[in-house]
Amino acid sequence: MLPLFCSADFTLANCGPKKGIEVVQLTPSAQGYQLPPHLQQLLKILVGLTLLVVAELGFVEGVVYEVIAVSFSGEPHPAPIGVRFRGGVFEATIYHDTATYANLKLHPMCTLNVVGSGLLFYDAVYMKHKLRVMCEGDYWFLADADAWLGVTALEESTDRGKSVFKFKPEVLHLSPVKPKPYTRADSALVEMLVHESRIKPYIDSGLLVEAKRLYDLIAHYNELVARIAQNTEYQVYAKAIYESAKRRMGELKVG
Ligand SMILES: Cc1cc2nc3c(=O)[nH]c(=O)nc-3n(C[C@H](O)[C@H](O)[C@H](O)COP(=O)(O)O)c2cc1C
Repeated sequence: MLPLFCSADFTLANCGPKKGIEVVQLTPSAQGYQLPPHLQQLLKILVGLTLLVVAELGFVEGVVYEVIAVSFSGEPHPAPIGVRFRGGVFEATIYHDTATYANLKLHPMCTLNVVGSGLLFYDAVYMKHKLRVMCEGDYWFLADADAWLGVTALEESTDRGKSVFKFKPEVLHLSPVKPKPYTRADSALVEMLVHESRIKPYIDSGLLVEAKRLYDLIAHYNELVARIAQNTEYQVYAKAIYESAKRRMGELKVG
């Protein structure tokens, strides 16, 4: 039986004791060659563990979530990135002109920190010094994250100034708070709903330019959701709102 959940009260390698955090330690999986049957069985268990990690983080497969990555080279370096869980790995597109990319080329590991507040994303871009970082073993993480995942880069595919990295999870830390990862698909849906609810009143009041502006915003968000949450419930809902807005604008043309 693999050790799944370790003690809820453990000692961090370099940072002193920390209470109330669960740890899941994943054994590295074998990659790229034919495995003997007992190792294939182990691999199945590991895939199961990855799914468990994803479920605990609150990720839905295929949806892009915004997290704060903490990479390092000498100093820990927080920066927001979008991450998608797909096909058993976490994928992130990282631009070559960022410090995060330079760090990953030196140390192909980082932590993905789940936070729910836009304020923390702001700090991660403009006020990095305000974020409290801590370390455990080889990983730096945000002390205020709702959960964090230590990952190692498995693969990099480069495409014009950016690279898609595939990461495998190594260590998962959960705080007592159930993490709710931030996806732009959620805010996009709410924005679409708000805008759609105003199109008819605007048309009825003769404010056609305003109605068209809202329709354009809805079309924009619909494209965003199709990109970051393809083949998910988010996409179905976004399309329904978009179609409704399109019908209203179509009635305008006919009428
Ligand atoms: C919510 C959010 C998501 C972001 N996602 C990404 C991303 O997926 N890939 C990327 O390279 N930059 C992304 N960025 C931009 C970087 O975080 C930003 O360029 C960063 O401040 C510079 O990165 P660096 O500090 O590593 O140089 C994102 C920014 C925000 C606010």
